[in-house]
Amino acid sequence: MKLYTNNELLSLFERHLAQMATPEEPQRLYAPIKYGLEVGGKRIRPTLLMLSYNLYAEDIERALMPAMAVEIFHNFTLLHDDIMDNAMVRRGRPSVHAKWGENVAILSGDAMLILAYNHLQRTQTDNLSKVFEWFNKMAAEVCEGQQFDMDFETQQKVSVVDYMRMIELKTAALLAGSAIIGAILAGASDKDCRNLYNFALEVGLAFQLQDDLLDSFGDERLGKKIGGDILEGKKTILMIEAFSRANEEQREVLRTTHLRNDISDAEKIATIKALYEELGVPERVEQQIAQKFQKALSILDALEVPQERTIELRKYAENLVGRKS
Ligand code: IPE
Ligand code: IPE
Ligand code: MG
Ligand code: MG
Ligand code: MG
Repeated sequence: MKLYTNNELLSLFERHLAQMATPEEPQRLYAPIKYGLEVGGKRIRPTLLMLSYNLYAEDIERALMPAMAVEIFHNFTLLHDDIMDNAMVRRGRPSVHAKWGENVAILSGDAMLILAYNHLQRTQTDNLSKVFEWFNKMAAEVCEGQQFDMDFETQQKVSVVDYMRMIELKTAALLAGSAIIGAILAGASDKDCRNLYNFALEVGLAFQLQDDLLDSFGDERLGKKIGGDILEGKKTILMIEAFSRANEEQREVLRTTHLRNDISDAEKIATIKALYEELGVPERVEQQIAQKFQKALSILDALEVPQERTIELRKYAENLVGRKS
């Protein structure tokens, strides 16, 4: 049975995506969809769906429709997320709301959600209702996670446990949903479906921890404004770990810096980053990422497929946790 590499799956997917036609008019509804989907995304969710499918089946074209659905869904969440997070830059370019305004980003986002379901519905399978069930579960969870993320901005005490639950919902659920949909479609056993789901959950947690780390300590390769989370007062893993290690004076700095109007944004970011470093926060987060990664790999060991078939999935996880963009 042919085993596709990550890169082969990626180019297969990109070719398919490039062929997708969207209506011309209304221009301000459809142009942002094209703009959002065209370049720069890592496509980690569709790749994961196809990798998971390819463990058990090789007619990979059958996985393309649901792969499109998860990628379009993801891009829909980004349009709305950038409004909620006041984020003006995405993939090194103006975000959709920065370019066209919030109303356009809301409505184009809605149209993308519909487009995602449109692709999901075209999946060739006898199990379509099961595929929809998993897709709906993950879509609802993303909304729940996004709400917790925003609630936490103004909530004084957020524990690591609260945080982990929040990122499991807002981020890991979409990876886990992608993995299990690929497995269901390929006819994997219930046990393997579960294991792939749990593998992707752990990878997803590691991925969001890394996203938080890069938001403060990454560089222009990230394509987002460095320090955006600090300015928004997000309860990222960095903020939570810093808070638990800080003395009372440092806690006051962590609590109030983003609210100050006597210093520039650059100064706010520099202040918080210096404190994170002083408290050993980046190292602690790196450790947590490594733990999740190891746990993810150990789950793969339990799959009912020959070890050598999981090599691309292992590489996939490795690339994600070591990413800079
Ligand atoms: C960004 O996702 C949103 C998060 C869950 C952190 P990605 O980092 O996968 O975004 P793209 O699609 O590759 O730009
Ligand atoms: C990502 O959270 C979660 C979703 C978009 C659903 P972030 O807000 O951290 O994502 P980025 O950093 O803007 O890509
Ligand atoms: Mg955001
Ligand atoms: Mg967000
Ligand atoms: Mg982020």
